[in-house]
Amino acid sequence: MIPVPPERSVLFVCLGNICRSPTAEAVFRATAQRAGILTALGVDSAGIGDWHVGQPPDRRAIAAGHRRGYDLTRLRGRQVTADDFDRFHWIFAMDQANLRALEALRPATYPGHLGLFLTMAPGAALREVPDPYYGGADGFDHVLDLIEEASEALVAKLRTRISPPAGG
Ligand code: 4NP
Repeated sequence: MIPVPPERSVLFVCLGNICRSPTAEAVFRATAQRAGILTALGVDSAGIGDWHVGQPPDRRAIAAGHRRGYDLTRLRGRQVTADDFDRFHWIFAMDQANLRALEALRPATYPGHLGLFLTMAPGAALREVPDPYYGGADGFDHVLDLIEEASEALVAKLRTRISPPAGG
């Protein structure tokens, strides 16, 4: 397979890579597919920690996603690495702690965008996706609400870069 250039590759990062970032990966993939741009993109997710490497997402994240038509079952946890800054020019942290950890890993010459995912959605009520791991099922629905909104906004932004409007 021909690798997707970093400029069109998106990485979602949370703490464990079993709740928020795999949800973001699945929702963003579905949103990009509906917009017809998924095949032009690289999309992945990773965790700051290594506790869940090789594991499928949390069963509550799988169930909440399934209720909205997203399939998380094939995703497996991995830990973020310094190489990710070569492969992805769009790196989105779910919360400030994730962002600080990524900033510590980021090479000084990184040319891409590293920021909080929810800042993509200008109208979003929150800047961070709350960690649902120690809470109830409601938390996973809230995560989906926030991630759906930010995914729409990110797809709209990337779409203009992939296929500029005619005459534009
Ligand atoms: P996530 O949630 O960062 O959204 O995947 C968590 C999953 C696992 C842990 C913490 C947060 N943990 O401590 O194992």
